[in-house]
Amino acid sequence: MKKSIRIVVTAGPTREHLDPVRFLSNPSTGKMGFAIAAEAARRGHDVTLVAGPVSLETPRGVKRVDVVSAREMLAAAVEAVEASAASGGCAFIATAAVADWRPARCAARKLKKGSMSATLQLRRNPDVLKTVSRLARRLAPASFKLVGFAAETGDPVAEASRKCREKRLSFIVANDVTEKGCGFGTDTNRVVFVYPDGSERRFPLMSKRRVAANIIKEIEQC
Ligand code: CTP
Repeated sequence: MKKSIRIVVTAGPTREHLDPVRFLSNPSTGKMGFAIAAEAARRGHDVTLVAGPVSLETPRGVKRVDVVSAREMLAAAVEAVEASAASGGCAFIATAAVADWRPARCAARKLKKGSMSATLQLRRNPDVLKTVSRLARRLAPASFKLVGFAAETGDPVAEASRKCREKRLSFIVANDVTEKGCGFGTDTNRVVFVYPDGSERRFPLMSKRRVAANIIKEIEQC
């Protein structure tokens, strides 16, 4: 039996509200992150799942924290990571499609089209994974594993490689979302693990459950 690891997973989209009834978001369904959380729990790990707004059931044995915005996701992730790092072996897996921008203002009441500007002012959101990466280096540099995702439409490996170095990850999972069977909401994916030294591990198209199992096995080994 492998040693149990404290694993924190982010999943799903975030919503960045303009007012109580409108928001900026993306089509992430959370399937990949929930599959990872389920597989990690099945393999005996202690899992906290920080989930944006999705309609998926909490996997058995997983502690779930629901959030809406990127800033809420960051706060929940930092809290979970700080609690986990104290216990030794810890991993952070960022599958969430975090909105990079939010409206500069969120109105307390529904905006009326007559009084709305046609231009939306935006502010940069925090990068959850990059912030946790910095925190991890401070808390437990040797025992902390950091895994990112790069869902791309161009050259996934080149982009993933850049992000892996910039966010100082253990490895990053790259895929091309325009490829058949690999987009948002699918039950399958074809991924490449890209490592900080530029090396790669390529996988064929497989279920997200099997992708999840490969990710957890890699974390157990590295
Ligand atoms: N990520 C995050 N917080 C953000 C943006 C991204 O935690 N604000 C994480 C994602 O969960 C993913 C990784 O960073 O694991 C890469 O996300 P991606 O959106 O592909 O990259 P960005 O850093 O936003 O870069 P770019 O806009 O250049 O594609």
